[in-house]
Amino acid sequence: MNQNIYDNNEFFRQYEAIRVRENNYNNLLEQPNFLTLIPNLEEKVVLDIGCGMGDFAAYCIGQGANYVTGIDISLNMISEAKKRHSHEHLTFTNIAFEDMNIQNDSIDFISSSLVFHYIEDFQLLIKKISTALSDEGTLLFSIEHPIVTANKGSVDWVSNREGNLLHFAIDRYQEEGLRSQNWLVDNVMMYHRTLSTIINTLIEVGLQIEKIIEPIPTIEAVKNLPGLNKEFRRPSFLIVKARKI
Ligand SMILES: C[S@@+](CC[C@H](N)C(=O)[O-])C[C@H]1O[C@@H](n2cnc3c(N)ncnc32)[C@H](O)[C@@H]1O
Repeated sequence: MNQNIYDNNEFFRQYEAIRVRENNYNNLLEQPNFLTLIPNLEEKVVLDIGCGMGDFAAYCIGQGANYVTGIDISLNMISEAKKRHSHEHLTFTNIAFEDMNIQNDSIDFISSSLVFHYIEDFQLLIKKISTALSDEGTLLFSIEHPIVTANKGSVDWVSNREGNLLHFAIDRYQEEGLRSQNWLVDNVMMYHRTLSTIINTLIEVGLQIEKIIEPIPTIEAVKNLPGLNKEFRRPSFLIVKARKI
């Protein structure tokens, strides 16, 4: 079951407040690494799954893409994307990826930033993406790292009495499936899967993995957001680039 949590207005209000801050995990860690893996987009057809407020989709237009579609399950997100970005070759649609009809072999680049852990059926998702991609087409996605999703909703960092972090608590790693946590509001649902499931699912549909990044912050980023120091101890994100062969 998919949850459209970004249309919970309280959640959305708090999420927006995080994203407008210049110094957040997206701007300082996830996006800078994600952007290093973008293929040449000149004349390409692009689909951004879970486009949120549309910034990445608009960025792809700036990179010379011929046509970019951003889709999102959340009406709040799509309304914001339409307010922020407009271009004759840029379309935003309010739909869940699972409900979308896509022509086979029609998309050169499929991107998705921090969305797939909200989608229950990973096998179906990747199969649909692979079918939609043109030959030599690229899939680039980021997710919360399996190390982090494993124990969601329980203790994450274990501290000593003085409040110093001892270690990150990983548990239930091999137990794939639904996790519920309190992040901004209660009962935010996401799905944990192991690294082997993620990688093998891509391999099984014939996607060739080209690069994996577990982002490490720059010293400059840590100066701007000291909490990023923890990323040297365990990664928050996993970024995967794969190509249809
Ligand atoms: C963490 S936000 C990321 C937004 C954007 N990609 C970014 O990086 O700024 C996750 C987004 O995925 C969307 N989403 C979750 N499940 C989805 C689904 N099944 N189909 C399409 N969008 C989905 C949410 O509504 C939300 O906008």
